[in-house]
Amino acid sequence: MSLDDLLQAAKHAQGRAYAPYSRFKVGAAVRSAGGNVFAGCNVENAAFPAGTCAEEAAIAAMIASGERSIVEVLVLGDGDTLVTPCGACRQRIREFAGPETPIHVAGPEGVRRTFRVEDLLPFSFGPDTLGAGEGGR
Ligand code: THU
Repeated sequence: MSLDDLLQAAKHAQGRAYAPYSRFKVGAAVRSAGGNVFAGCNVENAAFPAGTCAEEAAIAAMIASGERSIVEVLVLGDGDTLVTPCGACRQRIREFAGPETPIHVAGPEGVRRTFRVEDLLPFSFGPDTLGAGEGGR
């Protein structure tokens, strides 16, 4: 499976990010089990805590489309350091992905590193902790 579609979708969304306060535009894309790609960008707010993350938007788009399973994630940001998902977004991804699901971290030039969900959120709390597996969803 090519990564290019995820990268392009995230780039496109990043270009539309609303980040006038941090000036840090982020794009994210998730591939669903159904083979579809959903993208999102960060949307900041003058009341800072009301801002939302790119991953959050991409996941919401997938859920709104009727899908509930993520098989691959890509997060794209500028700058020299790795733009890994924030803590809350790791938890959001974990809700709909498996422990081995790849999370690609990209910069303007392409993918820089790939992690697994389990690498970024070990010993995580999740639907199974509540006894809510697939059947409970
Ligand atoms: N941001 C994301 O969109 N995703 C992340 O995983 C890290 C942070 C956004 C939130 C905020 O608009 C900006 O990046 C700076 O924190």
